[in-house]
Amino acid sequence: MDVGAPRHGESAPDAPRAPRLVVAHALAAGIDFERYFRWRRAHEGDPFFVRFPGLGSVLFTGTPEGAREMFRAPTNLLEPPRPNPIEPLVGSASLILVAGERHRQDRTLLAPAFHSARIRAYGELIRDSALAEISGDTAESGPAWRPGTRIDSRAAARAITLRVILEAVFGVDSHEQRAAYTSAIAEFLTAFSGPLMLLPVLRHGLFGQAPWDRFVAARDRLDALILADIARRRTEASRSADILGMLLTTCYDDGTAISDADLCEQLRTLLVAGHETTATTLVWALFHLHREPEVLGRLRAEIQAAGPGAPPLELAGLAYLDAVCQETLRLHPTVPIVLRRVTAPFSLLGVPLAAGDTMGVAVPLLHSEPGVWSEPERFRPERFLERRYGPFEFAPFGGGHRRCVGAALADYELRIVLATILGRVRLRLAPRYARGRAPLSVPHNIATGPRRSIPFDVVA
Ligand code: HEM
Repeated sequence: MDVGAPRHGESAPDAPRAPRLVVAHALAAGIDFERYFRWRRAHEGDPFFVRFPGLGSVLFTGTPEGAREMFRAPTNLLEPPRPNPIEPLVGSASLILVAGERHRQDRTLLAPAFHSARIRAYGELIRDSALAEISGDTAESGPAWRPGTRIDSRAAARAITLRVILEAVFGVDSHEQRAAYTSAIAEFLTAFSGPLMLLPVLRHGLFGQAPWDRFVAARDRLDALILADIARRRTEASRSADILGMLLTTCYDDGTAISDADLCEQLRTLLVAGHETTATTLVWALFHLHREPEVLGRLRAEIQAAGPGAPPLELAGLAYLDAVCQETLRLHPTVPIVLRRVTAPFSLLGVPLAAGDTMGVAVPLLHSEPGVWSEPERFRPERFLERRYGPFEFAPFGGGHRRCVGAALADYELRIVLATILGRVRLRLAPRYARGRAPLSVPHNIATGPRRSIPFDVVA
């Protein structure tokens, strides 16, 4: 720790500098975030500053040494950055935004619901959700995946992961309830996209007509569903095995229970954080697999050898499938920056930060560090069979005391959904995506994903 460190811009002459032409830089970052980060690092070295509207300058690193320092920093020095652009989505009581003792307590409450042993109970549900989408037999799913059909991969992947999270968290298994949640969540997330997400100045009402008013109305509608579920479940004599059932029976260390308002924000967080991230990763996995026939062939052979009736747990243990999922998360970390604000002076890779400053790991840089990854721009799952990567080299789920609480669920889900799809259908990438550069990643609500949906054709 570096007590009395100078603030940004007042440091030694050879220290990294914050960019001055803020609007030009924000524009460049908005057009191609990854390329902008690479360019900043090429000019400034590592660590380097990036300036965000509303948040000020953030000191970034993309090296394993930097990631180690940030993820291993004393937890009492760290909190999430404020203001946080996703606060309207998840709420100020969300696990993502609370700090200190409150974070420790809430994490202790939530984390057991996501331990690997519990996640295994969702294997059938995950496989059935993928099968429902493929067969097109629910009102929320797209058309059946028959030869000649064109699939909107983003919509299909979202439908699968939303179905999983709704059933795992709320035990939603009736068509009516699922339809009500699906439309409320779609309306809520759509209302927050675009300018409202990027420009906090727009977050004000105007006689019920402004985008912010529409967003607040959509959030109220979703919260009304969640609160009604909480109220109903509190009166039930027996508790169900889903995550809400578990949270209703758990208490904080001092014996008190979580309030309905806070529980509502935690559940809204799980809905938002728990489906779009996983859905986007599935889209990227399908995209790369269908551009690399050898990789696809090897994976199909592994899945076929396991057999059509292989239990989800066995599918989740397939070595090459595991490598494919990891390689997808390496090339496309859907949460590409992980931030911490320091509450006292601290130094990252020798650069001093004052209390209130923010530091971050730029995950795409970490995942392409030349000293660690050979041919980092290539999709080559074999690299994960050849060697093990440490938590400061490969960090798609962040790290330290705030590492993604849903990582085990996401990992399990990715493997089972991919095996279910590839074991049953043959797809072909729409011709314009079959060659050339991968589509750019742009922010979508809480995660980043391909700018446009990537279409696939079902083939015989
Ligand atoms: C491929 C899918 C996913 C990716 C790439 C991902 C990535 C991340 C990352 C990078 C963080 C920040 C970690 C940090 O600050 O060090 C995070 C936090 C979080 N994620 Fe995920 N996530 C995924 C799926 C999920 C799922 C399925 C859930 C829940 C159902 C979930 C719930 C959360 C929550 C609640 C946090 C906040 C944890 C805390 O601050 O203590 N995520 N996730």
